Amino acid sequence: MSEPLVDTFGRVHRDLRVSLTDRCNLRCAYCMPNDFADWLPGPELLTTDELMLVLDVATGLGIDGVRLTGGEPLLRADVVDVVRRISALPKAPEISVTTNGLKLTRLAQPLRDAGLRRVNVSLDTLDRDRFKALTFRDRHDDVLAGIRAAQAAGLAPVKVNAVLMRGVNDDEAPALLRRALDEGWRLRFIEQMPLDPSGIWLRSTMITADDVFAALSEHYTLTPVPSRGSAPAEEFYVDGGPGTVGIIASVTRPFCAACDRLRLTADGQLRNCLFARDELDLRVALRDEALDDDARRAEVERRLRLVVHDKLPGHGINDLNFIQPTRPMSAIGG
Ligand SMILES: C[S@@+](CC[C@H](N)C(=O)[O-])C[C@H]1O[C@@H](n2cnc3c(N)ncnc32)[C@H](O)[C@@H]1O
Repeated sequence: MSEPLVDTFGRVHRDLRVSLTDRCNLRCAYCMPNDFADWLPGPELLTTDELMLVLDVATGLGIDGVRLTGGEPLLRADVVDVVRRISALPKAPEISVTTNGLKLTRLAQPLRDAGLRRVNVSLDTLDRDRFKALTFRDRHDDVLAGIRAAQAAGLAPVKVNAVLMRGVNDDEAPALLRRALDEGWRLRFIEQMPLDPSGIWLRSTMITADDVFAALSEHYTLTPVPSRGSAPAEEFYVDGGPGTVGIIASVTRPFCAACDRLRLTADGQLRNCLFARDELDLRVALRDEALDDDARRAEVERRLRLVVHDKLPGHGINDLNFIQPTRPMSAIGG
């Protein structure tokens, strides 16, 4: 294998988050405005052939985990084929998907058969009316059905991601955990990050990891699970285990020093951090007609190395001069 993707701080990059589309069938208020219409033009999206070339090069450089995300990745018409083709790469990575779950009733089994191994489903509330208010779509039952379909297809344990917001759903932490333990979900609470399209995120009102821990501790005994590695979640055994819960403290306890992630947007821009202000254009290299196949691969590798080289030590959310990225989360790929 070629030299791995190591940055100037010695972090070896093994995880690539790939956004398959910026489109979504929900409108979670903290992610995408209800009237959002500023979609990426179709011709700017990477084709599946272009994406496979990138992944072939990246896996040759040590990327061994690929997470498909978006927008809503299951809205990409050929998502099953994408998974099948990634599974067939010479150095096939472990493939996972982050989804809102709406299309899992139809797609969980075909995705599993195509090589998908893990799925994360986002669910912020157990209350149907709240779900509708939060996402502007009355699809709560469909998410729950999607989780069941994923479990039935052997994509267990399903990880469920929840973002808590003050005065919206922050009273639900214990109930979400109860439901997760009962249904065999692996629940993780994610701190809300300053990526909301309306820019109304406030440090002073956000629900922190400590708030979540305190709320859960009123009902459960949480003991830390050792050996976190590069995983973003701090995991805790619940009442001695075997059930666990994860808390992802991206804002209040950043884990950048162990970060091994890169991101590729649906329109072929490389990012070395969710909060990066700069992106590196891969699409221009992929579509450069002056390059033959070998030269194109070499240029993709060069750009991957460049974006890794330029990675900063941390995301900077807690710096006084922090500036929110211009792209919303839905267009970066969460
Ligand atoms: C952007 S979504 C994309 C994938 C898919 N549509 C889904 O719902 O999981 C991925 C994850 O990002 C989370 N997310 C979006 N905006 C966020 C923010 N500002 N802070 C923290 N998490 C956020 C969502 O809750 C979801 O779990």
